[in-house]
This record gives sequence, C-alpha cells and structure tokens, in this order.
Amino acid sequence: MTTLTQLYPQQQSDITLEGLYLSHNIRSLATNQPFVYSNYVTSLDGRIAVPHPTKPGLVVPKNVANARDWRLFQELAVQADILISSGRYLRDYADGRAQEILQVYDDARFQDLQTWRTEHGLSPQPDIVVISASLEFPVPPELVAGSRTVIVITPDTSNQQKQADLQTQGVKVITVPERVTGTTLVAALQAEGYQYIYNATGPKVLHLLLADNMLDRLYLTQVNRLLGGDPYSGIVEGPLLDPPVDMPLNTIYFDPVDVGQLFLSYNKA
Ligand SMILES: NC(=O)c1ccc[n+]([C@@H]2O[C@H](COP(=O)([O-])OP(=O)(O)OC[C@H]3O[C@@H](n4cnc5c(N)ncnc54)[C@H](OP(=O)(O)O)[C@@H]3O)[C@@H](O)[C@H]2O)c1
Repeated sequence: MTTLTQLYPQQQSDITLEGLYLSHNIRSLATNQPFVYSNYVTSLDGRIAVPHPTKPGLVVPKNVANARDWRLFQELAVQADILISSGRYLRDYADGRAQEILQVYDDARFQDLQTWRTEHGLSPQPDIVVISASLEFPVPPELVAGSRTVIVITPDTSNQQKQADLQTQGVKVITVPERVTGTTLVAALQAEGYQYIYNATGPKVLHLLLADNMLDRLYLTQVNRLLGGDPYSGIVEGPLLDPPVDMPLNTIYFDPVDVGQLFLSYNKA
C-alpha cells in the first residue's frame, strides 16, 4: 500500500491512508456549539463539478474523483451525527447521476468504518438533513426505511402540500423564517441535539455556512490535474463574503498515487 507524506505542520513520511482522517478525531472538537465541517475534491484549477456529458447540470468530475479521496470522504462521514445534503442532490440521485453519499460505508471495503461507529456507540449511519426551497425531489425509499432520521429544512414559505407529503413519507420537516441561512440551519440542528455536522453539499450551501461564520473546518483534496470547463464551479458560490473568511492551514499530506494529490485541511480562524 502506497503511503503518504505529511508536509504540514511537521514533515513525516510513511503515513497510511486508512485511518488518516479518523486520527483527526473530529468527535473531540465540538465546544458548546456544534462542529461543522465540509469536504471537497477539486481539480488543480479549483473545479468541484463540470458539465454532465449528456444531461443538463453538473457532476463531480470523473477524472478527479478517486478511491483514495473517497476513503477519506467516508472517514469524515463516519464521524458525523448528521450529513447535510440538498434538494439538487436528491433530484440527481433519482436520475441515477449522483455519486453515492447516502449509503456511506455500506460498501464491504468500509466494513472497518461500520465497526468504528459501533465501537463509538453511534447509530449505524449518520442522520441526514436535506436543504431545499423547492421541495422538488423524491425521497429514496431506502433512506426512510431504516432507523435513520431524515430531516428536510426549508423556508416557511415553501409549498405546504409538499411539506405535508414529506411528513407522510416519514420525513421530519423543519421550517425557518423566509430563507435557510447558515445560522438558522446550524441552530435548528443543534436544537435537535446534533453536535457533529458534515456538509456534503456544493457551493451555495457552503456559502451560507461561510457567510454566517459557521464552518469550523474545511477539507480539500486537490488533484494535480487541470480541467477547464464552463460554467466554472468552485467550492463556494454567491455574493462577496464580507468580511472574507480566513481559514488558517491545519494539515497537508502528499499522496503520490496516479498523478498525485494533496489532502489539505483548514480551520476556522
Ligand atoms: N467535488 C466535490 O467534492 C463536490 C462536493 C459537493 C457537491 N459537488 C457538486 O457541486 C454541484 C452542486 O451541488 P449541490 O447542488 O449539492 O450544492 P449547492 O449548490 O450548495 O446546493 C444547491 C441546492 O441546495 C438547496 N439550497 C441552497 N441554498 C438554499 C437555501 N438558502 N434555502 C433552501 N435550499 C437551498 C437548493 O435546493 P432546491 O433546488 O431543492 O431548492 C439547491 O438546489 C453538483 O454538481 C455536485 O456534484 C461537488
């Protein structure tokens, strides 16, 4: 198994990929506020998504997504109480074109992560919160079939009939005044008892979190490959962040496999 080199905060070679982000011990980091963290795989030119080859919309680029990054995605997900997803994700999921994030560690390769959750006294899967204003998505039956709590958070102005339909399907609907913001999202989840919140959505929800200074840690995998492509899709999308969000470096690892990639993490200032 090819190992990684840690480049920051100190130099260290021969680091094993498996267990790398478990060793970040996310579940020791919450204070009196929930700990919110997010993770992206990007190209060297900063793209997290490119146009779908045959359908409207964007997808995670196939030539930056890779198994080693995916392992780390799972190691971060396994440490969460709840995962943030979006209405867009469930639409793409129904259409068969979304990377699977709902069934984390069901894969036999990730059996050790399932065991990790059991050993830490956690439910088999983190719960899931879907952020949506349109409420236009089908709920995958397997998502509500088990013991997992599925929450939809939506503005109180969203379609009442769709809210009621979701409740009939076993989804807990939380409404917030006017629009979902980083503050209302995190406060609603804290009120439900969630402490470790893993954001798996794209650039608009990350913007909400950053604009309200709600992001505690950002993980980035930067693959040494440039892609181009219009429209540009980076990790954050929305109005200028005012003030800008400073995130001091936490760790850097170099992974030499294939074209090579950096595993980076940053903390809230
Ligand atoms: N490379 C990576 O690591 C990575 C990671 C994540 C995502 N991505 C890619 O990024 C692209 C965009 O992902 P995404 O759509 O999940 O992310 P997003 O742009 O953050 O979220 C958009 C969706 O979230 C809902 N939403 C956003 N702000 C809202 C608000 N204030 N109130 C209520 N709902 C709100 C909307 O749902 P409704 O339309 O239902 O109202 C909207 O469709 C996708 O192509 C995805 O594949 C890449």
